[in-house]
Amino acid sequence: MNPSSIWLPASQVGTFLPLSTNHTVDVVIIGGGITGLTLAQRLKEAGRTVAVIEMQSIGMGATGSSTGHLTSALDIDYASLQAKFGQSGAQEAARKSEAAIDHIESLVDSLAIACDFHRADGWRYTEETSGEAGLVAESEVARRFGLAVEVVDGGPLPFMRRSLRFRNQAMFDPVRYVRALANHVHGDGSYVFEKTRVEEVDGGEPNVVHAGGFTVAARHVVHATHTPIGVVLPLQLEVAPYTSYVIGVRLTGRVPPDLYWDTANPYHYIRPVHTEPDGAVLLIGGEDHKTAHESDGAARFAALESYARSRFAVTDVAWRWAGELFQSVDGLPYFGRLGGQTSIYGATGFAGTGLTMGTAAALDIGRIILGGDPSLSEMRPQRFKPVAAAANFLRENASAARHMIADRLDGPSATPVLEIPLGEGRVTMVEGRQVAVYRSATGQLHHLSPVCPHVGGIVKWNQAGGSWDCPLHGSRFSPDGTLLAGPACEGLQRMRSKPDPGSEPEGAYGGALV
Ligand SMILES: Cc1cc2nc3c(=O)[nH]c(=O)nc-3n(C[C@H](O)[C@H](O)[C@H](O)COP(=O)(O)OP(=O)(O)OC[C@H]3O[C@@H](n4cnc5c(N)ncnc54)[C@H](O)[C@@H]3O)c2cc1C
Ligand code: FES
Repeated sequence: MNPSSIWLPASQVGTFLPLSTNHTVDVVIIGGGITGLTLAQRLKEAGRTVAVIEMQSIGMGATGSSTGHLTSALDIDYASLQAKFGQSGAQEAARKSEAAIDHIESLVDSLAIACDFHRADGWRYTEETSGEAGLVAESEVARRFGLAVEVVDGGPLPFMRRSLRFRNQAMFDPVRYVRALANHVHGDGSYVFEKTRVEEVDGGEPNVVHAGGFTVAARHVVHATHTPIGVVLPLQLEVAPYTSYVIGVRLTGRVPPDLYWDTANPYHYIRPVHTEPDGAVLLIGGEDHKTAHESDGAARFAALESYARSRFAVTDVAWRWAGELFQSVDGLPYFGRLGGQTSIYGATGFAGTGLTMGTAAALDIGRIILGGDPSLSEMRPQRFKPVAAAANFLRENASAARHMIADRLDGPSATPVLEIPLGEGRVTMVEGRQVAVYRSATGQLHHLSPVCPHVGGIVKWNQAGGSWDCPLHGSRFSPDGTLLAGPACEGLQRMRSKPDPGSEPEGAYGGALV
């Protein structure tokens, strides 16, 4: 069983050096996912110098966790978008999604990127009669926005009762794509730095980005970090972190090379990968929940497996992974200038279509940096849609506030550290304090403060992702506390490790108080 994404074989990881001296460029881009690399390529092509700063390796964030669907069928349907944003907002989302897929295709062609890109149809389907009317209504609205859709009885898979077919969508290997873009960006006064964590951005003229003891100065800085890093309000209250699960199953027989999304709740997204040497692999994702609000990752994978086995001739489950996405309270992503800043930009709230919307964000931010009008887009972070957003805003933030208070007052269970199963973590009481303890497969103990360094949420252990996750704004940390995903800019504080808790003298426990 492979616990990492199908796109991330270890051999592809880490080809660019960390930042090791000070630099000045036109634009610093924090984050080496699809948003950051698409923007970097666009700006370099337009004659600007850029520095992409990535704390892990290129493509190892959400881009590498994705399933590579490129689609104009958003997680929110077009009928809802039209109700919330009117004709122009829904139209803009449709237009930008299609333009993003075209942009990816044109780069694949012009830069000769081997990433298994190909056009395919997308099928939103129902297995129940109750889902049919929604598909018909959606087809009428989507067609109005220029999307090539049609309602079809059945569909390519035998269990599809009725479907809405989106023509001319696409799929690819997202990691090969972004790593090829990185190779094109690096050089001639532009840089890609890996294993370099940005700790701070000093706004000014120029802006100065601090990372690993060095600085990069630039006229423009872009947070292409999936959600902006540091404290960025109110934006961080307008997106909620969700965790999504994926399995990769081997099959006997082949599935037509299209994209499939059901209308069930919880929903499923499916695509084949035909590049495996020994036959087809089918990626099936779904079972989403709000990050760190559930702890039953094994049950989520089991549910996906049972879904797969009841519909396909599965021979084995070869991959399992989980990743994070950010959902905006009103259904559209946010991208453009952040707050009142004129030269600092961000992009977030892509939900499950961030490969296209991240590309759209990069093209829009690039347009603004190159002199375009920032006020044109419904996606701008400053938009205020009280009617569209109010209900979700209250629901998402009420649950975050509940966690902020309850996780401190209720306290953790008092699981003795030696009863924590090998390879798992728990927030538990040690000498009267809350401590996040991870017990490795060999029994080594890592003692961490459970307090998220962003704004103080209490992390929870995520067995499916092998990480500590914060329920407030979705920061994630490795078992030893290293930062995996923001908005936090640093890891969990390490407390003194105690290989044998029984032998530790009373009161000698070091580290942060909760
Ligand atoms: C399971 C799953 C399946 C998905 N499937 C699809 C799909 O099929 N189609 C689709 O369109 N979308 C999909 N998505 C959503 C999509 O993956 C994301 O929206 C998209 O990849 C976001 O790209 P990004 O470049 O903005 O962020 P990322 O790819 O996360 O890139 C941000 C980068 O910033 C880096 N970073 C963060 N903080 C710092 C710091 N302080 N210093 C330096 N670097 C930093 C991170 O390491 C990361 O590499 C899926 C998401 C998940 C979780
Ligand atoms: S991510 Fe904001 S408090 Fe943890």
